[in-house]
Amino acid sequence: MSWGVLVGGQGSNLRAILDSGLPVAWVVSHRPGVRALDVARAAGVGTTVLDPRDYRDRAEYDRALVRVLRAHGVRRVAMAGFLRWLEPATIAAFDGQIINIHPSLLPSFPGLHAVEQAYRHGVRWTGVTVHAVDEGQDTGPIIAQIPVPCLPGDTLETLTERIHRAEHRLYPRVLAAIDRGLVELANGAVIWKGDYPQWNDGLYSASAINPD
Ligand code: GRF
Repeated sequence: MSWGVLVGGQGSNLRAILDSGLPVAWVVSHRPGVRALDVARAAGVGTTVLDPRDYRDRAEYDRALVRVLRAHGVRRVAMAGFLRWLEPATIAAFDGQIINIHPSLLPSFPGLHAVEQAYRHGVRWTGVTVHAVDEGQDTGPIIAQIPVPCLPGDTLETLTERIHRAEHRLYPRVLAAIDRGLVELANGAVIWKGDYPQWNDGLYSASAINPD
């Protein structure tokens, strides 16, 4: 089933998603000129920039977003660095099949600069969360998480790097599981139909026990 990816930054998660072979039909960025757009183009995937400054309000912006995605046959949406809240009507338009990745173990450290928030707080463990999107800020039902340690001597940069590596392992796997129908998102509930524990153990040992 065709996916749309919403971006706005470096595009490292987009690259991991494209490398995984997920059927990505279109990429939308809320920022012009970002590297994520180059990542899409290099993979031969079409892009649209929807700059919020060109729209009166969030409702008008989101209507344009839904139009673009629908025009390219998108049925499910993955957010990867798209720093905007979505209108309830937008989430409904995709039947709740909108997924986001967040660089902390939610519900800790929602919002912007999550890695920095966790680092400054002095946590020993943080991590990565993939969740379904709802109207709140990083509040939707959690689909999968992996822990990432904050090691002695870590700087914000080394921790950020480790978090990104965990993101790139986790996100494509979760999206593939959804794509194959191993996870169902219905009415705010996440139903795993596949072998979640075994699947997650592999990631856990890959990311947490051997963080590098
Ligand atoms: C990632 O850390 C993701 O968790 C957050 O935004 C960042 C996007 O990075 N939502 P990239 O553009 O995928 O490199």
